[in-house]
Amino acid sequence: MSEILRLGRLELRVLDLEESVKYYTNVIGLEVTGREENRVYLKAWDEYDHHSIILQKSDTAGMDHMAFKVKDIYELEKLEYKIEQFGCKLSRISKGTRLAEGEAVRFQLLTGHHMELYTEIEQVGTKTGNLNPDPWPDGLKGIAPHRLDHALLTGDDLKTATRFFTEVLGFRQTEKIVTVDGEDLVGSFMSVTNKGHDLAFVKGPDAKFHHAGFYVDNWYEVLKAADILTKNNVQAEVTPTRHGITRGLTVYFFDPSGNRNEAYTSGYMSYADFPTITWTEDKIGTGIFYHRRELIESFSRALT
Ligand SMILES: [Fe+2]
Repeated sequence: MSEILRLGRLELRVLDLEESVKYYTNVIGLEVTGREENRVYLKAWDEYDHHSIILQKSDTAGMDHMAFKVKDIYELEKLEYKIEQFGCKLSRISKGTRLAEGEAVRFQLLTGHHMELYTEIEQVGTKTGNLNPDPWPDGLKGIAPHRLDHALLTGDDLKTATRFFTEVLGFRQTEKIVTVDGEDLVGSFMSVTNKGHDLAFVKGPDAKFHHAGFYVDNWYEVLKAADILTKNNVQAEVTPTRHGITRGLTVYFFDPSGNRNEAYTSGYMSYADFPTITWTEDKIGTGIFYHRRELIESFSRALT
């Protein structure tokens, strides 16, 4: 069992900070909780920590880092040691480097992605509160997801990436995509909670970001998310459909910098004894888009 509690945050690089803030507040419907000169901090309405998304002004789009929240400082130090033993380059990010955050351990995967583990972040709570709460607050805007749900990254050596997350960080592989001969791994979906996935990799260039998934209530909310995209003149890359992998319901689109976003719901729960589901590469179309049964070109090509 892992002492990692959950996915905590994604820091995304964006080209035009103000345009991006407009998009993430009006279209996605996140709430701004803090600002610095080159960073804006946001959270979804159902999240109680200070932020789950950081937008960082940059010359290139993509992901600065993905961070997981760990149970306590003792577990964080144990994980730090194990990560070092695995051979990852590691550093400490001191408290106060970013708003509302305590110290973090930062390391680089062999796929080139930067990850962080942390325990401390200011809790700001939700508008519904913790005492006799209403099911949702007034004044929600846009898609208004409950939370940041998962991220998908691309990389070359997915076997090592999977070994790292399962053996070192205690994730479970819920689903995998293998070549038809079973030799190579071309997709790996992993969970550190009881969700279908918290993090996934598909085969592709190292250090690239594929998408951030935001969780909404149900199929109608996915449909409504697509309505909100059209109302805001945001192109949907893939209109609402179902994934074979995770059985989730989905719509894909892009932020103004070209970072892919997803409104996602449903799918199964996975427990500690969940057996890994296998897809063969010849069925990858069905695995990703269950109805269309084939990939669209942009889906593999548009990465940041
Ligand atoms: Fe997704």
